[in-house]
Amino acid sequence: MSAKKKGASKAATGTSASGVEKVEAKATAGLFGSDGNRDEYLALVAELLEHDRRYYVDNDPSIADFEYDQKKKQLEAIEAAHPDWVVAHSPTRRVGHTPLSGFVKVERAVAMLSLDNTYSAGDLTDFFGRVVRGLQGAGDRRSPELVVEPKIDGIGIELTYKAGVFVLGATRGDGLIGEDVTQNLRTVKNLPMILKEKVDLLVRGEVYMPREAFDKLNVERLAAGEEPFKNPRNATGGTLKQLDSRIVAKRPLRVLVYEVVGDAPGIATHSGLLDYLRRLGLPVYPDTKTVGSLDALLKEVTVWQDKRASLPFEVDGLVLKVNDLGQREQLGFTARAPRWAIAYKFPAQQATTKLLDVELGVGRTGVVTPVAVLQPVELAGTTVSRASMHNWDQMSRLGVMVGDFVLVEKAGEIIPQILAVVKERRQGRESELRPIPPPTKCPECGDTLIKRPGEVALRCPNTKPCPRQLREAVTFFCNRDAMNITGLGDKLVESLVTAGLIKDLADLFALTRAALLRLPRLGEKSVDNVLAAIATGRTEATLSRFLTALGIPGIGWVWAQKIAEQYSSLDSLLKADPEAVYRDLVGIHGFGDERAGAVRDYLSDPQTQALLRKFITLGLSPNEPVVSTGPLLGKTFCITGTLSKPRGDFQKRIEAAGGKFTSSVTKKTSYLVIGADPGEDKRTAATKHGVPILEEAALEALLSGKSP
Ligand code: IVH
Repeated sequence: MSAKKKGASKAATGTSASGVEKVEAKATAGLFGSDGNRDEYLALVAELLEHDRRYYVDNDPSIADFEYDQKKKQLEAIEAAHPDWVVAHSPTRRVGHTPLSGFVKVERAVAMLSLDNTYSAGDLTDFFGRVVRGLQGAGDRRSPELVVEPKIDGIGIELTYKAGVFVLGATRGDGLIGEDVTQNLRTVKNLPMILKEKVDLLVRGEVYMPREAFDKLNVERLAAGEEPFKNPRNATGGTLKQLDSRIVAKRPLRVLVYEVVGDAPGIATHSGLLDYLRRLGLPVYPDTKTVGSLDALLKEVTVWQDKRASLPFEVDGLVLKVNDLGQREQLGFTARAPRWAIAYKFPAQQATTKLLDVELGVGRTGVVTPVAVLQPVELAGTTVSRASMHNWDQMSRLGVMVGDFVLVEKAGEIIPQILAVVKERRQGRESELRPIPPPTKCPECGDTLIKRPGEVALRCPNTKPCPRQLREAVTFFCNRDAMNITGLGDKLVESLVTAGLIKDLADLFALTRAALLRLPRLGEKSVDNVLAAIATGRTEATLSRFLTALGIPGIGWVWAQKIAEQYSSLDSLLKADPEAVYRDLVGIHGFGDERAGAVRDYLSDPQTQALLRKFITLGLSPNEPVVSTGPLLGKTFCITGTLSKPRGDFQKRIEAAGGKFTSSVTKKTSYLVIGADPGEDKRTAATKHGVPILEEAALEALLSGKSP
């Protein structure tokens, strides 16, 4: 059940298969039998999770893809037939769930501290000496053993398992208060939703983005005219902060755990704890070394200088930890870090090479980015031949010329950066050097580039329009998360644009059979499929999907939904005064001035207005389906503390019952629902605004139409 294979088969069947799948799912539910009970359902959940674990943690699957998919379908069918049985840790949740309106704060009893950093063999010698002296001071003359682990360049997290079930995942935050990112972490494929034993466990570890995934994501972002992430840590952080876990599910994050909070029965060493975590089925770095002397430690550090490049994830250093848990206790903590552990940061990796050329890339939004073409050079174990230059301001700051020798750095970032020009190496080579003036014309369409106020990026204004930009925009528009129009691959989009059949996004809906048949290499069947997919896209479009598909800067699915809630149809959005739209949107919690401003600018542009009217003329006039009935209609809910099911479950049910869910308590909130360990802030706010406080049972009563 390789992820790739699964993705490929999904893409091949597309959404049109969903009807077929439903029928099949019903059939399998039938096979499972109406006599199938909840225990059998839970057993199937556990079985599938075990297969996930074997695949993603052990790398040792014990079931064929086909069989796995059958079982998954069976599970989906049971869940569809018995929605009240569904558990939050079900493997079906791995694809993400209803977007949140905000993250809930989580307060922890034991702070997540950070580590002191060291940078040299001398620093390490000092650390070792401090540990030895600290232990001697406590009367312990044993030489300390240290465990050497990679310092994964990701985001620290804390995971809570109750009776072996993953119930909470939180970020570090300020150490004591983090954010509940459970829903996002459920999408992390190698994170076990259940452990092999039904234990209560609090573990800490790192979420990270593997190198390959990070590179791919940045390539996509650049192509879409978005700023690339600076390094895997930023990419992980940015992903973890997504309110829409379905987006997170598409970015392959991974987890490794490395610490237990509290102790485990009969385990006296850190390496013992790591083994214990492995036995429970958690992903632990497989190759930690235990060293018993300073010499062995320094040797192991040099081994890592080469080893780091061979790992599939970025490692920015090592973490050295005293192995004996009793010794750890003797050493204790300073105010910010343990005395029993330290981080050793690798020196940044730099190399000098020649800048051969600068290429231009054009993204979906028309941003033109410079990409350095370098004479290939070895850097941190990989051959580097391209580097990111971000923007033209940075290039002119560096004063870089083609032919220059440049200093390239890879310090966490996978895409190397140009740090500086080695000016001394210009001598005698002046004639080889060529200045790199910022482009004035779009390399694709020749349009004059512009700079928006307050932006450094150069953009193609797309007045012609720009074929490359248009191609990117069409592909984005048809994307599964946007209009979900399948079958328009890159090649077809390119020929549609080249043939002049598509001059703007709306032209998609004006395509005719005759025109498509004239395209090279497109048979009747393909033409019919494309037209059918466009027709489905047209009928199934909702306003929020459509707004997402337009690619308005900063407006992803979550915000598109907010807009769609306010203006239930494209028609009413188009009729509204853009300034009034701005005022409405800026009032929505979290929307922000920049996003609201981008929507206003987008709507007030005459070109956009013409485009939107053209969509309507061509029969695409999407509405947002509204839940206009339900016992909770007109009521706004906020939840604090832990309820019996994840908050997202309640959010979904509240919304399905016509209610609204918010992440903070204001005077507009109808009820604050409290669970175990509620946050004080929300309670205080509720008292201040006179918002009634309910317990879970009362919420259930409201959901079923009774009064609380
Ligand atoms: S142990 C109190 N082990 O590095 C000690 N941390 O700079 C807790 N990190 O906040 C941390 N790999 O997010 C530990 N093998 C590892 C680690 C690791 C990465 C991160 C972690 C921590 C930061 C400290």
